[in-house]
Amino acid sequence: MAKTLYKTSFGKYVIGDTENVLKGTLGKKLRSKVNLIVTSPPFPLNKKKKYGNRLGQDYKDWLVRMAKLFSDVLTDDGSIVIELGNSWEPHRPIQSTLGLEALLEFVNAEGANLRLCQQFVCYNPSRLPSPAQWVTVNRIRTIDSFTHVWWLSKSDHPKADNRKVLRPYSKSMQNLLKRQSYNAGVRPSEHKISKKSFLLNHNGSIMHNVIELERIDEDRELRLPHNMFSMSNTNSNDFFLKKCREEGIRPHPARMQPGLVSFFTEFLTDPGDLILDPFAGSNTTGYVAEKLKRKWIGIEIDEDYGRQSLLRFKDPALGAKIT
Ligand SMILES: C[S@@+](CC[C@H](N)C(=O)[O-])C[C@H]1O[C@@H](n2cnc3c(N)ncnc32)[C@H](O)[C@@H]1O
Repeated sequence: MAKTLYKTSFGKYVIGDTENVLKGTLGKKLRSKVNLIVTSPPFPLNKKKKYGNRLGQDYKDWLVRMAKLFSDVLTDDGSIVIELGNSWEPHRPIQSTLGLEALLEFVNAEGANLRLCQQFVCYNPSRLPSPAQWVTVNRIRTIDSFTHVWWLSKSDHPKADNRKVLRPYSKSMQNLLKRQSYNAGVRPSEHKISKKSFLLNHNGSIMHNVIELERIDEDRELRLPHNMFSMSNTNSNDFFLKKCREEGIRPHPARMQPGLVSFFTEFLTDPGDLILDPFAGSNTTGYVAEKLKRKWIGIEIDEDYGRQSLLRFKDPALGAKIT
């Protein structure tokens, strides 16, 4: 049974098993209404953990069942953004292919009518060295420092506008725009570059599909869209982490990066649109949506995570009304 744990000015956080919730009354109410699903699903684990992560084929079958349920609640021009980290085989220095297999089966799930719009890589150099045994003890693997982000949709043309997430121009591009002269001609790649190419000011450059949340090299500029939150999980000033510390609560161990969620929110939705996170955890998605004035719904099986997520909305800067 689904139960609403709290509501805010823009959204509500529901406790329940996502599969049951989406098959029930709420799922029916949401049919064709959700503009964006942004989520990081529970990882496929090789050992069972607290909230009953599934194993092997069982995980794949479960995630594939989600595809149709997610697709049903999506608008025709809606999008699904799924973040999935790499997982490793237990006690062995090799990666598990299970997450990727599950994602491929998810995209191709019968009746879901999904397609892969674009794959992104979220590069986060501040992640702790992992898997520690093979990276820092045996020194036979390098640090796993990115997550896979898959952008899926029901049509080839979901709502999207890269002009809403422009990055500041690089110093050399700023100079070029000032100078208004460019080395025209044919490049070795046979691309013809005209005198006017690159000289128009479009107010910023187009994002890449490698999202770099923090810079690894202090001397190199990091160019993120002006409207993307640059904070990361390690930011100790983060209101949520401070509140958790004050209240002696262990923050959710697998929180998404607010910057990543804000990028897709700005890129793929408009204010007033509805965003769903079916595995809401600490509710990074709801928090970002609230901040960017999008409606949101979070579904989570573990009520403790739900209660801690409420702390995010006590941030006075957010001005959210909680009921
Ligand atoms: C990777 S975490 C998501 C963390 C979240 N994105 C955040 O920023 O805090 C996955 C979440 O899915 C929840 N979960 C696992 N199985 C679930 C299910 N069947 N229904 C709803 N939530 C589930 C877990 O309790 C966990 O909090």
